Amino acid sequence: MCGIVGYIGQQEAAPLLLKGLQRLEYRGYDSAGIAVQSGVRCDGLGATGEVLGVRCDVLGEGMKDEAGVRVVKRKGNVASLGEALAGSNGAVSGATMGIGHMRWATHGDPSDRNAHPHVSADGSIALIHNGIIENHAALRVELGKHGYEFVSDTDSEVLVHLIDHLWKSIPFMNFEGAVREALSIVDGAYGICVISSREPDKLLVARNGSPLVIGVGEGEYFVASDAAPIVEHTRRVVYLSDGEMGVITRDGYTVKSIGNIVCEKGLTELDFDLEEIEKAGFEHFMLKEIFEQPEVMQDVMRGRVRLDEGRIQLGGISDQLERLREAKRIVICACGTSWHAGLIGEYLIEEFARIPVEVDYASEFRYRSPIVGPGDVMIVISQSGETADTLAALRMAKEKGAMVVGICNVVGSTIARETDCGMYTHAGPEIGVASTKAFTAQVIVLTMLALALGKDRALSDAEFIQALQCLSSLPERVKRILGCSEQIREIAEAYKDAKNFLYLGRGYNFPVALEGALKLKEISYIHAEGYPAAEMKHGPIALIDEEMPVVVIAPKDDTYQKVLSNIQEVKARGGRVIAIATEGDEEIRELADHVMYVPKGKAFMMPLLTVIPLQLLSYFIATLRGCDVDRPRNLAKSVTVE
Ligand code: AGP
Repeated sequence: MCGIVGYIGQQEAAPLLLKGLQRLEYRGYDSAGIAVQSGVRCDGLGATGEVLGVRCDVLGEGMKDEAGVRVVKRKGNVASLGEALAGSNGAVSGATMGIGHMRWATHGDPSDRNAHPHVSADGSIALIHNGIIENHAALRVELGKHGYEFVSDTDSEVLVHLIDHLWKSIPFMNFEGAVREALSIVDGAYGICVISSREPDKLLVARNGSPLVIGVGEGEYFVASDAAPIVEHTRRVVYLSDGEMGVITRDGYTVKSIGNIVCEKGLTELDFDLEEIEKAGFEHFMLKEIFEQPEVMQDVMRGRVRLDEGRIQLGGISDQLERLREAKRIVICACGTSWHAGLIGEYLIEEFARIPVEVDYASEFRYRSPIVGPGDVMIVISQSGETADTLAALRMAKEKGAMVVGICNVVGSTIARETDCGMYTHAGPEIGVASTKAFTAQVIVLTMLALALGKDRALSDAEFIQALQCLSSLPERVKRILGCSEQIREIAEAYKDAKNFLYLGRGYNFPVALEGALKLKEISYIHAEGYPAAEMKHGPIALIDEEMPVVVIAPKDDTYQKVLSNIQEVKARGGRVIAIATEGDEEIRELADHVMYVPKGKAFMMPLLTVIPLQLLSYFIATLRGCDVDRPRNLAKSVTVE
């Protein structure tokens, strides 16, 4: 989830763009850049310089900006871009229009050359992009046939060359037409801003799937991925909708559809402050990230779950899929919440692909003398991609000749770079230390992997298609659960003073019980344990009394009756039960003290539904106890030491 800003007006653009990017840094960052052009007003200097291979001329008074666009971009955060700008001997000064970008990498590691803006070969067009161009690989090949060379590994760069190609190859084509034509060719999600020295007084913007806002000032206009960088300049904004593009000059703006139909867009008055925007109106990043999961689930599956074609496309492992299918054994290694996702991965791969799987804590794997070697596949799961124990386990498995597949959220992270192949979870930056959306994204990636491995192997076509339909229905089902957050807050109120908690689940929901317990421990500091429900009789049942709340995950599946008896065993010892149950299940209401309902679904997808109320329960209990849920004590978002 990148950050985009743009400006056209009378003010010096570079400092405005830099400040705007600082406001978007909460969206995650691994590299940043700006592109400017002065158009009508210059500062009179006659200097020439090179910034990152793009010609940069600061022209004399009144001369038109024929020399192209000036770009400064750098790996790292906004501060490092600021240093680069300070060191670019005024290369970007005097310009009163420009675009800026904070990158959250999806394709291509964080680096200077993969940073945005991307520039056309002749330096006359600069483009920034937020989203994923799904058909970028095919377009690269096509443009390559026309002699276009690519300086980055990004999907975004194809767009600037495509615009340049269409502009040069179609007679009487102009800037707006070339951008529109290009957008009718690309597939995928985008929020873009484009400028060109060939028409230096125009700022073109467009969106499809990624947010874009135009801020309307007095003779000046601001553009951004959300209102954070705009609210301090103007409160009058225009929200672009999917399939719309804006043509902005200093004299005004027009919004049209990609199909060139003028759109009447009303002005919206912003009524919130900055702090709120960064959290999108949520009190904490954790709550925001919990509520982002329906969209994140769509992003994880975008271009991968191809229901209309009845297939799954996992670009990051497609060349290795056959080798994965032939694996004698799969070892999953991870830590914390990622380890819980790995446990669910074991159930999924063994059910759908019938390949034996074992799951190891990475920290234990590396210190026991594990039997792993050629013919084995290790899957390492890590949100940050920097967890030391997981990295060490990866390196050990590689040394022993196993193939290592990565499932990471941070693109270009160490683990992602050191694996043989892998899949990104595309959950966007996860700011809250307690992992939520990254967990569900990991489980969806594992589900897609298991289905891809099981297709034409242990899964019939009908079962495969049905599973794809289930996956595609997830975002709507999760939205329904999030709609019940108020009831979950009331339940949290009843248990906020508990000293201990027990979480029970069976089958796919056992790892969810572990995850629910971890979430509560992490942010509320209440001691909690997750257990396979049937294990309770072998010890933990001794803990149960009226002081011990027991969370029981009890959806209507093959083990439902067994779980009901576990609830009766708890009730018989005075325990208080919070049940996670399937909508419409009235029977369990008789037994449990409180019930949190989830939509019905196939057993394999239940973890993606039953974990949501547990995320919310832990969040509400922690906030009711006054805990700082975004920065819980003693914890780090990424554990890079042993
Ligand atoms: C989860 O909420 C915690 N932040 C922690 O357990 C985390 O899952 C663990 O440190 C692994 O991190 P990773 O996924 O970045 O490797």
